[in-house]
Amino acid sequence: MTPEINLKTRELRANPYPTYARLRKESPVVLYKHPIFGKTYYLTRYNDIVSSFTDPRLANDRRNVLEGKKDPMDRWWVPKLFRILQNNMLAKDVPDHRRLRDLVHKGFTPRRVEEMKQAVERIVSELLDAAEKKPAVDLLADFALPLPLTVISEMMGVPEEDRLTFHRQMGGLLDNLTTPAGFLLQTPNAFNMMRFFRKLIRLRQTEPRDDLLTALVQAEEQGDRLNEDELISMIFLLLLAGHETTVNLIGNGTLALLQHPEQLQKLREHPELIGSAVEELLRYGNPVDQPSPRYAREEIQLEGHVIPKGATVMCLLASANRDESVFENADTLDITRKPNRHVAFGMGVHYCLGAPLARLEGTIALQHLVRRFPDMKLAVPAEQLRWRGSIGLRGLKALPLLLSPSGAPAAMREAA
Ligand code: HEM
Repeated sequence: MTPEINLKTRELRANPYPTYARLRKESPVVLYKHPIFGKTYYLTRYNDIVSSFTDPRLANDRRNVLEGKKDPMDRWWVPKLFRILQNNMLAKDVPDHRRLRDLVHKGFTPRRVEEMKQAVERIVSELLDAAEKKPAVDLLADFALPLPLTVISEMMGVPEEDRLTFHRQMGGLLDNLTTPAGFLLQTPNAFNMMRFFRKLIRLRQTEPRDDLLTALVQAEEQGDRLNEDELISMIFLLLLAGHETTVNLIGNGTLALLQHPEQLQKLREHPELIGSAVEELLRYGNPVDQPSPRYAREEIQLEGHVIPKGATVMCLLASANRDESVFENADTLDITRKPNRHVAFGMGVHYCLGAPLARLEGTIALQHLVRRFPDMKLAVPAEQLRWRGSIGLRGLKALPLLLSPSGAPAAMREAA
């Protein structure tokens, strides 16, 4: 029988890995009564998760499996505006998925992203200059968050004064849309965000620029390539995925390095290891813990377990990345790990559109942080750190650091 477990415990949020290890051993699939999706089948092992990404029996668009049954999102406590936001390319199958992805993929190719390098270097330096002047920093609020938030906002063309507002609105959704009550409480917030998107669209209609937002607005104006709801859900997805994930790569990555001083030292002595270090921090830190849900188009058998037709299926991505049958010493951080076939960016047609951008930001951010602050350390005991309960993401609420040994900012040290 497929084991049933509770995936929403405080311990799991702080450290899910011992539980994931047990689940991998016990069963390739476990059942959890998800507060939103209901009965959900979670895949636990690397090989099954990798296969699921290209399995034609699984759909991303639940309407493709409903066959007249009630839509799980079609509940009285889910107002229409949430359905619009959620109806983005992650929740589509071919051919709609291809049409939507084609509209934006040019903005995120490795070449296009390489052209962003100077801008990312500039933002990183400015943020670290400001952070250095403080006695103690919250690495997330002072660095890991403003970096991707500024980069995706500049790419999209979001005015500076609006950036923190939309970040707060999106954070509210991410951290609260985990229960029916959360949906109701977040309705005014989602409504305001929708108003903000419409304001952005009007702005780029009247003042077109050389940015992604203008390109999308023009695609919508040209008619059949993008309708208005799709335009809104695209803006939502790009702005959200563009910063709420990379913040966790930098935050979880810095924490992992601080908790493994010998690896941090190795990176300082061999800065050329930054490429493999970022890959290992993606594997070890799992900025995205669970990707979007899939739906079974037909009954699926998995080692004696039955996933019924129409069922919701989720992948424990963070479990796949610690699967000892694939990664030697899977719970050990090794910045020289090769090969490193992690699945932090997913796989298949929904493979992360922003992977080259996330890698660029993560690389430059960690390179500069490690080089400029050789003595940085945690400002509180690690046990006091708190993790967010965001849907699908794994990240800290705050990461208090002392950047220099005495905690004194550089300017004060120079004057002394
Ligand atoms: C470390 C940072 C990041 C991680 C770990 C990450 C992870 C992922 C994963 C696992 C998926 C697949 C989800 C699924 O199959 O359900 C995904 C998709 C996606 N990501 Fe990222 N992501 C990151 C950064 C970014 C950035 C910077 C952007 C920029 C806009 C972005 C945009 C997207 C988009 C648009 C999709 C949907 C692709 C599709 O459905 O075809 N991501 N990401």
